[in-house]
This record gives sequence, structure tokens and C-alpha cells, in this order.
Amino acid sequence: MKIIMLGAPGAGKGTQAKKIAAKYNIPHISTGDIFRANIKNGTELGKKAKTYMDQGLLVPDELVVDLVVDRLNQDDCKEGYVLDGFPRTIPQAEALDGALGKLGQKVDFAIDVDVPDENIIHRMGGRRACVGCGATYHLEHAPTKVEGICDMCGQELILRDDDKPETVKKRLGVYHEQTKPLINYYTTAGILKTVDGTVDIEDVFQAIVNILGE
Ligand code: AP5
Ligand code: MG
Repeated sequence: MKIIMLGAPGAGKGTQAKKIAAKYNIPHISTGDIFRANIKNGTELGKKAKTYMDQGLLVPDELVVDLVVDRLNQDDCKEGYVLDGFPRTIPQAEALDGALGKLGQKVDFAIDVDVPDENIIHRMGGRRACVGCGATYHLEHAPTKVEGICDMCGQELILRDDDKPETVKKRLGVYHEQTKPLINYYTTAGILKTVDGTVDIEDVFQAIVNILGE
């Protein structure tokens, strides 16, 4: 099963993609996580990506597309995957279709996690990310067992630099301009499914399972 997660920054793409990956036993591929791992490890790619990410801008398509296509060609992707944060522009979607077409494959579902802008600003302020493994939590909606400490690896939690209110507003603007057109793109392709992302995390997941099947 090949799944794309669409939605504004903070809509819950990552939260739901992790749950989908666990239930259907497919890899969760997050371009944001890949960039953050590169930044942490001080790679050239990380240095380039950081200048865009810190401003709330998209990393240029040419830095993203090859990276994802290489990842999709790895063995663990044979049975499918859930893509979180890619594609994010029409050229990225076209590049993905082109790369899959060569392999005789196509995306099965594009799931749009729909959350209005007003909710997003509140959510991002409460999100906390682990400095070690990148796991994300929310102060109110998805708290850790021990305050400020990651449940998975025991390291410290922080507010991501790009989750500061001004940068969130910028990211939302970029989303409306560059990423939202993908809703039409996948509607035309006949694979768009929309779920209400404002309800509880478990209820959003149930709506997704209803679409994907048990
Ligand atoms: P990325 O990491 O993908 O960030 P994003 O799209 O801005 O989305 P987020 O990860 O912030 O939100 P999410 O939808 O995953 O929400 P989450 O589940 O965490 O990208 C970061 C940057 O990298 C981009 O700005 C760009 O610069 C660059 N980049 C990445 N991919 C790129 C690409 N393809 N092309 C170009 N540049 C690229 O949830 C948010 C919070 O809400 C959490 O605290 C969570 O616990 C909580 N929450 C989740 N669901 C619910 C719910 N139902 N109710 C209440 N709270 C909830
Ligand atoms: Mg995410």
C-alpha cells in the first residue's frame, strides 16, 4: 500500500503516519525527519536544508526529489510505504509519478488531514520534539509520561525552532501557496481522501483505517 499524507504544518501527518506504519507494517518516510537527522549530523545536505527550514520556507525541489526516489528504491519499500511531507509541490508530485511510472507502480491513497489554520497555531505552540530520536508529543493532547522527557529514548524535549509562532505563520502561507494545489492534483487522479484532523488522535486514525481497510 503506497500512501501520501497531505495537510498543513501541524495537521497531524507525522502522528498519523507513525500509526499507519505500525498497523500496516510499512516504512514511514518523513522528509522533515530526514532533513532534521541530516542537520543533527552536520551533513552538507543538512546545512543547505537548515537555511530554508529555519525561515519556514520549502527546501528546493532538486534537494528533495532524488533523496526520496533513492529511499523508495530500497528493499523495505517493496510492499509499500507512507510518505509524510512529500510531495509538497506540484513538481515534486510529478517527479514522484514519473519515478513510480518507470517501475510500473502508482500511489494508492493521498490522505488529506484537514485542520483549519486557527487550530494549527495553537497546536504548534504545544508541540514538543525529542532532541534524540525526533519523536513528537503535545503538552495537552499527547503528553509524555514524565514531563519534558521522551517516552521512547529518555532524552530531553524541545520546542522546534520552526514551531515559533512567526515561523508557523510563514509555513502556513507557504502551505497555502505551494502545497494546497496538491489537493486538486490528487482529486483529479481520483485518489484523494479527506479526514477531519480536528478530532482526537485516535478518532482521526479510525477514520483513516476505515479508508485503508482493516
Ligand atoms: P515537516 O517536518 O514535514 O513539517 P510540516 O509539514 O511543517 O509538518 P509538521 O511535522 O510540523 O506537522 P505534522 O503534520 O507532522 O504534525 P504532527 O503529527 O507533528 O517539514 C519541516 C520543514 O522541512 C519544512 O518546513 C520544509 O522546510 C522542509 N521540508 C520537508 N519536506 C519537504 C519537501 N517535500 N519539500 C521541501 N521542503 C521540505 O502534529 C503536530 C502537533 O499536534 C503534535 O504536537 C501532535 O501531538 C499534535 N496533534 C496531532 N494530531 C492531533 C489531534 N488530532 N488533536 C490534537 N493534537 C494533535
Ligand atoms: Mg511531521
